[in-house]
Amino acid sequence: MKILIIGGDGYLGWPQAMYLSKKGHTILILDSLMRREFDLKNNFNSLVSIENVKERTRVWKEKTGLEIHYIIGDTRDYPLLSKTIKGFQPEAIVHFGEQRTAPYSMIDREHAVFTMDNNVIGTMNVLYAIKDFCQDCHLVKLGTMGEYGTPNIDIEEGYIEIEHKGRKDKLPYPKQPSSFYHLSKVHDSHNIMFACKIWNIKATDLNQGVVYGHETEETEIDPRLATRFDYDQIYGTVLNRFCVQAAIGYPLTVYGKGGQTRSYINIQDTMRCIELAIENPPHKAEFRVFNQFTEIFSINQLSEIVSHCSQELNLKVEIRHLDNPRVESEKHYYNAVNTNLINLGLKPHYLRNTVLTSLMKEALRNKSRINNKLIDPSVNWRKIKNILPQ
Ligand SMILES: NC(=O)c1ccc[n+]([C@@H]2O[C@H](COP(=O)([O-])OP(=O)(O)OC[C@H]3O[C@@H](n4cnc5c(N)ncnc54)[C@H](O)[C@@H]3O)[C@@H](O)[C@H]2O)c1
Repeated sequence: MKILIIGGDGYLGWPQAMYLSKKGHTILILDSLMRREFDLKNNFNSLVSIENVKERTRVWKEKTGLEIHYIIGDTRDYPLLSKTIKGFQPEAIVHFGEQRTAPYSMIDREHAVFTMDNNVIGTMNVLYAIKDFCQDCHLVKLGTMGEYGTPNIDIEEGYIEIEHKGRKDKLPYPKQPSSFYHLSKVHDSHNIMFACKIWNIKATDLNQGVVYGHETEETEIDPRLATRFDYDQIYGTVLNRFCVQAAIGYPLTVYGKGGQTRSYINIQDTMRCIELAIENPPHKAEFRVFNQFTEIFSINQLSEIVSHCSQELNLKVEIRHLDNPRVESEKHYYNAVNTNLINLGLKPHYLRNTVLTSLMKEALRNKSRINNKLIDPSVNWRKIKNILPQ
């Protein structure tokens, strides 16, 4: 198949491009490089050193004989985006290309507005380009489990059957996100659902849990094919931060009471889920939703897992509770359904195994690259203007 990967230079997009290229698909990447620009501007760094997109694709060809083409461009640039889609005629578009963190979107007005503009307008442009130039293309869009928030009932896959005053309907599941980033994903979901209905196009919205891990079969071919490993307060997810903290003897910083419970998925399972979605497209006009995660943990459980693994590596760790910079429930019910992808054939990898064998070891190997000033949270949901440490 011809597959366009928007955001194909990012943490997930790059390994996904290699994964699908190795399966024989023709891959074109479109990426604005906004993720790398943030690091350069703010002196942030990936724990694992990463090559630029030109070098990555060159090494991929050298090692496998396969080509991955790329275009540097922004989804908000409609002439460029539509020309790309019209010319390439992808059978599937995997859309990773958004600003992807809650703390970034809560820094201040500028970052919140950028997140809305980049994500919502970018996705609107993708929808219009499909409608105008590539109607049969299947849009595989990355959403997040954070769109649902933490309701006091089970979270279903996209839709819920409701009986109200004696009448029944199947409606989009209510969304109660907890940052402007997550809200941008909710707006995307509504826009995509509407576009499918009115233009007869097809889309899969993948409500993905927090992804962990950085090793896939393809990144292991050569160190120059590595994907990023973020551990900072903006882009680093909690498990990565804990592993890095343990490696340098810094207390594991739990925000608030630590009962915040979320869904998680290994990077190798993300690769497979997207392949499964592409191999099993929805019908025309269908807006399909899959919950893309494999396990559920609270922050306290994650800190205990990392602490336990650290002991096995003879590292001493302390767990420290900080005032929560976010506005979120710290003790709540959480149970989400994830059967659609399992039914299509997903075989999960498990988090406990990855922490010790991969994440902790990588953190120790790259200890000298860790800048501990980047880890503590300085973005507070209640403040109007937050300042990033340099
Ligand atoms: N990483 C996770 O834990 C996680 C969890 C749930 C959902 N997601 C979603 O998966 C997708 C990929 O996440 P990631 O972790 O790889 O993020 P990332 O920031 O590493 O990668 C995103 C890539 O998209 C590019 N990009 C951003 N805006 C763009 C635009 N307007 N036009 C073109 N390119 C653009 C960036 O430069 C970057 O290379 C995101 O949509 C994210 O919201 C990620």
